[in-house]
Amino acid sequence: MTELKPVKIAGIGYSVPETVVTNDDLTKLYETSDEWIYSRTGIKERRLVSGNETAVDLGEKAAKNAIEKSGIDLEDLDMIIAASNAPVEMYSMGCQIQKRLGIKKQIPAFDISAACTGLIYGLDIAKGLISSGMYKNILVVACDNNSKFLDWTDRGTSILFGDGAGAVLVSESDDGIDDIISIDIKSDGNYDHLISLPFDGKNCPLVEPNEVKTSLIKMNGKGVYAFVAKILPKYVEELLQKTGLTSDDIDYLIPHQANIRIIQAVQERLGMPEEKVVTNIKYYGNTSAASIPIALAEGVEKGKVKLPSTAILCGFGAGMTWGGAIVRLREGIC
Ligand code: COA
Repeated sequence: MTELKPVKIAGIGYSVPETVVTNDDLTKLYETSDEWIYSRTGIKERRLVSGNETAVDLGEKAAKNAIEKSGIDLEDLDMIIAASNAPVEMYSMGCQIQKRLGIKKQIPAFDISAACTGLIYGLDIAKGLISSGMYKNILVVACDNNSKFLDWTDRGTSILFGDGAGAVLVSESDDGIDDIISIDIKSDGNYDHLISLPFDGKNCPLVEPNEVKTSLIKMNGKGVYAFVAKILPKYVEELLQKTGLTSDDIDYLIPHQANIRIIQAVQERLGMPEEKVVTNIKYYGNTSAASIPIALAEGVEKGKVKLPSTAILCGFGAGMTWGGAIVRLREGIC
């Protein structure tokens, strides 16, 4: 059997739109309050794309930051995986990012859809392909403009999401150290009804017409909360145990930013002190697949996350999907 190559997290980047919409602003759309939203979710404001800005613009910036930090030549990039929950274009966000980066080489670029767990899924795929020796440098970019697919009359759902992008450049490690210590992804399609974004399309006019539904995010908030609160804390604890580590070995918990109470449930289960938990949900809401890399890269930028260090990344999303990774964060990645 060929020896597996170690994988390096070489660079990380993020980007969020300039436009801020606060909880108070949302009171112009429906009956709600800052107190109601903040006390149940931990969110005060979110960033939203505006005008012609899209997730591709955000993804381009995040990708450029990650590539720059990695020090890797653009010509040496040999795959782009775009994780998107609310894509601008069904026929490949990955290709659009390739074009925006000015890559002329015909490297593979494609999308994955694992909703808010997309970044962890992308990392898992990248690790597999690099470990096997098939590829050396893979860009995983998570970019979403959820705000374009929200029902802005549904106060139970539209309060939660924001737009943003995050990117991770993963490479074959040149010093024998594997930065992805452990990674795992899961799904259970039996819970697909909890969050959905239908793209029904229309049947051929020569056959019986189908029922066409609007393409907007629908969520059973209580159901999602109950499902995730039940599975995620235990899952993350088991991931640590399987790796042979305890929470004392880990410097940071960098979870998907969906709800502060879910984050606290994971934190409590792991017995981690608050200073080890990276949260920015207050300012960005849930930016789906981008939320983990945004929390990580911004955490480093703001000095909350010190390098070098170790972290648990964990997330969940529609599908339902979930996953976790235990990673080494090297100096200079961000
Ligand atoms: N402002 C004021 N009232 C609101 C409101 C808002 N923004 N949204 C809902 N309400 C009302 C409801 O109409 C309901 O009123 P009723 O009892 O008169 O019918 C009441 O508040 C309770 O609504 P409910 O949906 O049961 O609230 P909740 O306590 O479950 O909180 C969420 C809603 C969305 C904050 C919460 O369920 C949640 O965070 N779930 C997890 C979702 C998630 O993480 N999704 C992302 C997955 S990646």
